[in-house]
Amino acid sequence: MPTANQIKSLLQSHTNGDDERFYAVALQVAADEARRGHQKLAEELRELVKSSRRKLDDPSQKGNVISFSAPVGEAADILEPVSTHGKVSDLVLAKSLEERIRRIVHEQKNLSKIKENNLRPRQKLLFTGPPGCGKTATASALAAELGLPLFVVRLDSLLSRYLGESLAKLRLVFEAAETTRAVYLFDEFDSIGFTRETPNDVGEMRRVLNAFLVFIERLRGNSIVIAATNYGERLDKALFRRFDDLVEFGLPASAQTREIIKRLLRNVDKERLSWNRIEQAAQDLSYAEITRACEEAIKEVVIHDRQKVTNEALVAALTERRIYLNH
Ligand SMILES: Nc1ncnc2c1ncn2[C@@H]1O[C@H](COP(=O)(O)OP(=O)(O)O)[C@@H](O)[C@H]1O
Ligand SMILES: [Mg+2]
Repeated sequence: MPTANQIKSLLQSHTNGDDERFYAVALQVAADEARRGHQKLAEELRELVKSSRRKLDDPSQKGNVISFSAPVGEAADILEPVSTHGKVSDLVLAKSLEERIRRIVHEQKNLSKIKENNLRPRQKLLFTGPPGCGKTATASALAAELGLPLFVVRLDSLLSRYLGESLAKLRLVFEAAETTRAVYLFDEFDSIGFTRETPNDVGEMRRVLNAFLVFIERLRGNSIVIAATNYGERLDKALFRRFDDLVEFGLPASAQTREIIKRLLRNVDKERLSWNRIEQAAQDLSYAEITRACEEAIKEVVIHDRQKVTNEALVAALTERRIYLNH
């Protein structure tokens, strides 16, 4: 029989969502039983821990994941639950980038193997790159593939809305991250991670940044924390080593431009595409801008009852996005 203290620990770790502690205590109970000569019971307990761990790693085996409202408690007003969709394969990514993302998914799906060998999975990620290139979409796809909820922490509003109490709020976010396994996306991370000092509220920002660094260093549990910024080059380089992986997103190269346009126009009638003209018109546009231009071109066809998307319409829509951006 387990001791009262063991039952207490089991209940506490269950309440805190601390799976590792829960299993550790369960294994302790198994060891005690084995010492008392109850080999069969001990073996059964070990097997149960093993299979339960596997289930925890495998999102398809999991029943209902955590509900959106329950886990975050007092942090609820700064953690915005965001519905997740899509998979990594729905995104168009440069090969090396896709491999980095896959590696993260793979490690997260094999948490117990990694932890049994006293290794640490990648869980603290820094996403950098221009707007509209898939940072948020990737965070969402990661969460969806792992069957985890996604919470967005808006640091800029954390700072402006809770001036003076932002540290306490930040602590709540990290407490939530330890107790509720999910993907936590700190969007607009540059609002605290800049090296250049801005005149307003510098003291507060520094304190929040320093606190962030301490919290992320001490992070326990199985959540994924992602900091995302459009201005990676302006971040304090000392920040980089606090993360397990630095993932750089970029504007689409010509292969990715073609791929995303092909995918977006997959289901519509179109002229044979003249890629040279299209690529030229799409130069320097982000994935988001290209997506928008394709949607505009499709809209034109639908509204005017035209037969198909023409090169001309597509090039015009892309060009319009570029002109718009350059203003
Ligand atoms: N790599 C990509 N592949 C496919 N679509 C993309 C990609 N990047 C961005 N998009 C499209 O643009 C939208 C905005 O991208 P988002 O991930 O919010 O950009 P970021 O967070 O980098 O500013 C996405 O919802 C998606 O429709
Ligand atoms: Mg974004």
